[in-house]
Parts: sequence; C-alpha cells; structure tokens
Amino acid sequence: MHFCCCPCLTTILPASILAIVIYKWMTRKRTSVTGKLVFITGASSGVGKACAFLFHKLGAKVVLAARNIDALMSVKTDLMKKNDMNEPIVVQLDLCDIEQITEVVKKVEDEHGPIDVLVNNAGMSYRGEIIDTDITVHQKLMHVNYFGHVVLTKAVLPAMIKQKSGHIVAVSSVQGKLSIPFRSAYSASKHATQAFFDCLRAEVAHHNIQVSVVSPGYIKTNLSLNAMTGDGSSYAIEDATTASGMEPSVVAESIVDAIERSKYDLILAPIHHRLVVYFRSLFPALVVYIMNLRAAKQFKLKNKS
Ligand SMILES: NC(=O)c1ccc[n+]([C@@H]2O[C@H](COP(=O)([O-])OP(=O)(O)OC[C@H]3O[C@@H](n4cnc5c(N)ncnc54)[C@H](OP(=O)(O)O)[C@@H]3O)[C@@H](O)[C@H]2O)c1
Repeated sequence: MHFCCCPCLTTILPASILAIVIYKWMTRKRTSVTGKLVFITGASSGVGKACAFLFHKLGAKVVLAARNIDALMSVKTDLMKKNDMNEPIVVQLDLCDIEQITEVVKKVEDEHGPIDVLVNNAGMSYRGEIIDTDITVHQKLMHVNYFGHVVLTKAVLPAMIKQKSGHIVAVSSVQGKLSIPFRSAYSASKHATQAFFDCLRAEVAHHNIQVSVVSPGYIKTNLSLNAMTGDGSSYAIEDATTASGMEPSVVAESIVDAIERSKYDLILAPIHHRLVVYFRSLFPALVVYIMNLRAAKQFKLKNKS
C-alpha cells in the first residue's frame, strides 16, 4: 500500500488547523461587563477595592460589600468623583453572619434586580504552627474565606438560573493549590474554595452560568497585616513578600479578563510559583522535600529569636 508523504497532509494541514483554532480562541467574543450588576465582597480594601474601581470605570453598577462601612463610603465617594452618573451601592456585610448574607442579597435584588456578576473576594490570612493554633482560628478562617462565600453564592444562584446567565468569581490563592507550612488554616480554606467552585462550575454550566477561580500569588495589600495568629490575635506585620507583591489593580484586570473571556481557572503568579504547583502533581516527593526544608528553616529562625 502506498502512503502519501505529501507535506500538505503531514505539516501544512495540521499547522493550518492549529492556526485557525488559535485565531478563533484569540478573537472569541468578549462578554462585556458594562451595565452589569456586580457584587464585590471585600470592596473596602486591596483587591476588592481595585475591582470596584475597574468595574465602575467599565460602566458596571457595583455593589460594595464589607464590614467597614466608613471605608466603603470612602470608596463610593472616590468612585462618584470619577463618574457621578453611576452611583455604587454600599452594603455592610459580615461573612461570618450567615443569616445576614441572605437578607443582604434579597434586599439588593429587590431594589436593583438580579446580580449578574458575583466576585467572592473578601478574605483573611493566618500565620501559625498547627500545634499552637486554637480550633476557633481554623473555624474563623473557614467562615470568612469559605462558608460565607458558599452561602453568598447560593443566595445569588436562583436569580442567575432564572435569567439563564451569570458569572461567579472566587478569589482563591496559589495556596488553594499548594499548602505551605505555617499557613494551615488559610491553605485549607482556599483548597476548600477551589473544590467547591470546581463542583459548582460543572453543576451550573447548563444554566449558562460561568465560574472562574482566580489564584494569585503575593499582592501588595493589607492581607498580612490583618492576618490572624494561632491564639486569635492580629499578626499586624507587613510581610516582605506581601509588600513586594503584585499591585491589586493587576489582579482586578485579570478578574475582569477572566469574566470577559470566560477563563475558568487562573494562576496569577511568577513562573517559579506556578511550576511548584504543577510539580505538586508531577513530582510530589520533590515538593514534600522543598516544604520540609522550608519548615525547618523557619523553625531554625524561630529558635534563634
Ligand atoms: N494579598 C495577597 O498576597 C493575596 C494573595 C493571594 C490571594 N489573596 C486573596 O485576595 C483576597 C483579597 O484580599 P486582599 O489581599 O485584598 O486583602 P485585604 O486588603 O486585607 O482585604 C480583605 C478584604 O476582606 C474583607 N473582609 C475581611 N473579613 C471579612 C468578613 N468577616 N466579612 C466581610 N468582609 C471581610 C475586608 O473588609 P472589612 O475589614 O471592611 O470587612 C477587606 O475588604 C482574599 O481572598 C485573599 O485571600 C491575597
């Protein structure tokens, strides 16, 4: 039998198909956020505040949610200075108060209609050794970073399902993909976040609802200052890694891009951090070795001080 070795079939055809696929992917229709009702948790600071500025600039109607009402009002005032025709909605929300979350969503929907985009961004971090960490600290981290957003997401879903569209973003962390020592409560809450929103994505796809999990590395915000220690006190230190991290506006740009281009999972971190995440699956023994070294180095520093 004679096989054709014509370059048309072996090289040019596959290359053309690949080029068409890449072209189609790069020029695929973007979903605009203009005119959408966007609910942002943690809008009083850091990434949430940067999201508020970007969504507002793009013509979305933003709902600013957090506990600190004065900080939210200050964000609202700054947004109104940029465009006083688009008035943000401010809602006080404590993610640990499960009953209040459902009431807040109902009030927003009654007054402004269904929420089109939910950005589950609020969060708190933790520094400590497992053996010294009170269970209430683990519970607090799970409430703020995980259960609060589960309840909030469940509260917005019925209206999204009814209107057959919506986008839910979960701001996780590289630590939602890879646990590092002395961050157990935080890493566990972010792993739970990744798992929950992966399940949700599959369950709501047939309702035309998109789910994006965004996992950043270090960002220049108040996260480490507001972190909890093992005894429940405030860590109150700005870590060098956080201080030298990405600008929150960069993360906000990626969140909007994930919505516009329907990106479902995104790691926003330098290449060496992304590699360790991939190595966790490919070469687990190597990552275990690296993490043991990292913990040993920190124990050494602790014993010196
Ligand atoms: N910074 C980083 O290096 C980094 C890296 C990876 C992922 N992330 C993630 O990025 C997200 C945003 O954090 P950030 O870096 O912007 O930190 P941030 O500046 O400390 O902001 C945290 C936000 O969460 C809100 N919040 C905290 N506890 C809350 C509660 N019980 N109920 C409602 N809102 C609450 C805070 O508002 P109130 O105090 O007014 O309630 C604040 O607006 C978090 O999910 C974090 O895990 C951050």
